[in-house]
Amino acid sequence: MPLLKAARTVRENAHAPYSNFKVGAAVRAVSGKIYVGCNVENVAYPEGTCAEAGAIAAMVAAGETELVEALVIADSPLPVSPCGGCRQKMAEFGAANVPVTMATVAGKSETLRLEELLPGAFSPQHMDKG
Ligand code: THU
Repeated sequence: MPLLKAARTVRENAHAPYSNFKVGAAVRAVSGKIYVGCNVENVAYPEGTCAEAGAIAAMVAAGETELVEALVIADSPLPVSPCGGCRQKMAEFGAANVPVTMATVAGKSETLRLEELLPGAFSPQHMDKG
């Protein structure tokens, strides 16, 4: 519930004048602390950032590098699905079994583990030439 409330609240601050699609995200770090983010769009469209990216950046800026739970919410007909880039960003800091809840403002939700959202994730092992 705290994650849901945090993401729902920060979503209101989203800067989304181009898509009109406000997204809020919250991650719980291993310390128990919750970090939030919202999407921040730009008139140069590709320069916008996703809500999940903002929450992860806040966590890392605070000195934490492990997330144990994540939640993303939008005013969408279906529980909002993190984009591919955000799945990889979450996988950088979350274990395979980390639950990611996708929610709608109206109250629908679905929870999947990171490994279900990003099977075969690119990982440090893929760069290990030894
Ligand atoms: N968006 C997010 O912030 N997170 C998601 O999980 C899906 C998409 C944003 C990016 C863009 O600002 C808007 O939603 C429409 O794609």
